[in-house]
Amino acid sequence: MASEAVRDNFFMHNKMATVISLKDIKRDFTVGSETVHALRGVSFDIEEGEFVTIMGTSGSGKSTMLNILGCLDIPTDGTYRLDGNDTSKMSKNERAILRNRKIGFVFQNYNLLAKTTAVENVELPLMYNGGISAKERHARAVEALKAVGLGDRLEHKSNQMSGGQMQRVAIARALVNNPAVILADEATGNLDTRTSFEILVLFQKLHAEGRTIIFVTHNPELSRYSTRNIFLRDGRKVEDTLNPHVEDAALTLSQLPQED
Ligand SMILES: Nc1ncnc2c1ncn2[C@@H]1O[C@H](COP(=O)(O)OP(=O)(O)O)[C@@H](O)[C@H]1O
Ligand SMILES: [Mg+2]
Repeated sequence: MASEAVRDNFFMHNKMATVISLKDIKRDFTVGSETVHALRGVSFDIEEGEFVTIMGTSGSGKSTMLNILGCLDIPTDGTYRLDGNDTSKMSKNERAILRNRKIGFVFQNYNLLAKTTAVENVELPLMYNGGISAKERHARAVEALKAVGLGDRLEHKSNQMSGGQMQRVAIARALVNNPAVILADEATGNLDTRTSFEILVLFQKLHAEGRTIIFVTHNPELSRYSTRNIFLRDGRKVEDTLNPHVEDAALTLSQLPQED
C-alpha cells in the first residue's frame, strides 16, 4: 500500500521527537465564590507521528485541554512544552506566534469565512507570515487543497460547498503552515456518518504521511481509527492506551450502506 511506504520512509528518516509534553497540568476556573477544577493534574507526552484521540464525556475537561494545547489558554499550574518551547515562559504575543507556526486547528463548525473562496480561506494563516509572497501563498493554498481532494473546488465559496467539503477546506487551512501538530475538536461532529468517515479517511491519510494529529471527541467509536487513546474523566487522565489494531476508515466507509 502506497501510504505504508510513505510512513515507513518517514519513520526511517526522522528520529522520533516529542512534540507535546504536559506535566501536571491544572486549570481552575473561578465562578463567583466557587472554584471549578476543570483539569486536576494531567501529564502526557505525544511523539511526532502519533494519531491520538482524547475522549471523555461532556464536562470531563476536553475543551479546556484543547485550549491549552492550542495555546489559546494557559494552565493554572504545571508546564506545557510545544515542540520544545516552554509556553509558560512566554508572553501572550509570543504564544500567538507559536500557535500560528506550530498548530493547525480544525473545528466542529469549520470556522471558514463566509462568501470567501476556498483558496482565500486556506491562504489566511500565511498572511501572518511576512516572509511569504502573495504568489507563494496562493501556490501553497492550492497545494493544500489538492492534498485534501478539493483541487476542483478552488474558487468555490464557503456557502457553495457541502459540510464535508467545508471541513476539507478547514483541514487544508490547518495544513498550509506545515504545523507540528493538527488539533481537531469534534471535527466530524456536524457531519453525517458517511461524510464523517470520509473525513476520518483523510485524517488517516495525513497520519500515514507522518502528521501528528490530536483528535478530541466524545464519540468512543472514533478511537478505533487512531493509534492512541487518552480518556479524561472529571479533569483527570484515567486511561492512556496504544491501539494495537487500528481500523481502516476507508474499509469501514466502503462497507457503509449506500445512500438512496
Ligand atoms: N470558562 C469557564 N469558566 C468556568 N467553568 C468552566 C469554563 N470552561 C470550562 N468550565 C468547566 O470545566 C469543566 C470542564 O469543561 P470542558 O473542558 O468544556 O469539558 P468538555 O469539553 O469535556 O465537555 C466543566 O465543569 C465546565 O463547566
Ligand atoms: Mg467540549
